[in-house]
Amino acid sequence: MRVLVTGGAGFIGSNLVHALLGSHEVGVIDDLSTGHAENLHPAAWNRTMDILDELLPAALAEFAPDAVVHLAAQSSVPRSIVDPVRDWAVNVDGTSRVAAAAAAAGARRVISASSAAVYGEPAEIPLKEGSPTVPVNPYGSSKLAAETALAEQLSARGVDFASFRFSNVYGPRQDSHGEGGVVAVFCSELAADRVPVIHGSGEQTRDFIYVADVVAAIISALEFDGRLADGVPSGSAYNISTGDEVSINGLANAMRQVAGFYAPYESGTERAGDVMRSSLDPGKAYETFGWHSVVPLDAGLGPTFRWFARS
Ligand SMILES: NC(=O)c1ccc[n+]([C@@H]2O[C@H](COP(=O)([O-])OP(=O)(O)OC[C@H]3O[C@@H](n4cnc5c(N)ncnc54)[C@H](O)[C@@H]3O)[C@@H](O)[C@H]2O)c1
Repeated sequence: MRVLVTGGAGFIGSNLVHALLGSHEVGVIDDLSTGHAENLHPAAWNRTMDILDELLPAALAEFAPDAVVHLAAQSSVPRSIVDPVRDWAVNVDGTSRVAAAAAAAGARRVISASSAAVYGEPAEIPLKEGSPTVPVNPYGSSKLAAETALAEQLSARGVDFASFRFSNVYGPRQDSHGEGGVVAVFCSELAADRVPVIHGSGEQTRDFIYVADVVAAIISALEFDGRLADGVPSGSAYNISTGDEVSINGLANAMRQVAGFYAPYESGTERAGDVMRSSLDPGKAYETFGWHSVVPLDAGLGPTFRWFARS
């Protein structure tokens, strides 16, 4: 299969590209705004380009993908608050353009990265795809609108599609910025022998998922021989998560074991736009294309910390 990955020089994208290359032809479009040139794989077709560039359709037509995995995004909650206009342009207009270009280039399936941020403060735990979506920051709003934009572009064109609502992804190659950044921040601080800061009480919870599990979910969905689009107008959303709810204090404890650092962490002020609780039910992904996460937090933190300690 020929798979085009937007955002393939980023954290999740580069892990995906490396995993795909064994058995698929892979193309990457990335403007390197937060991604890194050293993440690009020489065996892939690589194009440095903004997804808002008017030459995007020509680039997709040139690569002629069977499927597109759209990961390129303004992926930081704090930056979305500082510059909501750019956040909306990249995440909503960008998704619309990628979807349209994918359809025009003959792709049969598009999988687009959405986020737990679409739910905002949860009405129930664990969150299901049908739970209320009330984003509490511009990033969550743009990711929600991007799901609709994807459906609007593709449902009438016979292209299968899905929006994957990732929970907090962590693992090697993550930058210490971005919404899943707390594991990366703790790892980079501990690797540099600095004391990490816990913002707020530390009782806020997250559903941490290891990047290899996310990569496996995307590959399972790419290879699935049924239909992912579920006919709900703004739907076709899937939680890609563990379903576990771990507090930041719990994460800090797990990190202590991994890094061998047992002193108390510092306390900092609460961050704007943070929700108090998050845990996403991944049952729909399992029922539809048979994927579930397999890497427990303790097992994922080890290689993640070692990657930060080495680089
Ligand atoms: N990391 C997480 O915990 C998490 C959680 C939920 C959703 N997501 C979503 O998953 C996707 C991948 O996230 P990530 O953590 O790998 O982020 P990342 O910032 O590492 O990767 C995003 C990539 O997109 C590229 N990019 C950004 N704007 C672009 C543009 N206009 N044109 C072309 N390329 C552009 C960047 O250079 C980068 O390589 C994003 O859509 C993000 O919103 C991530």
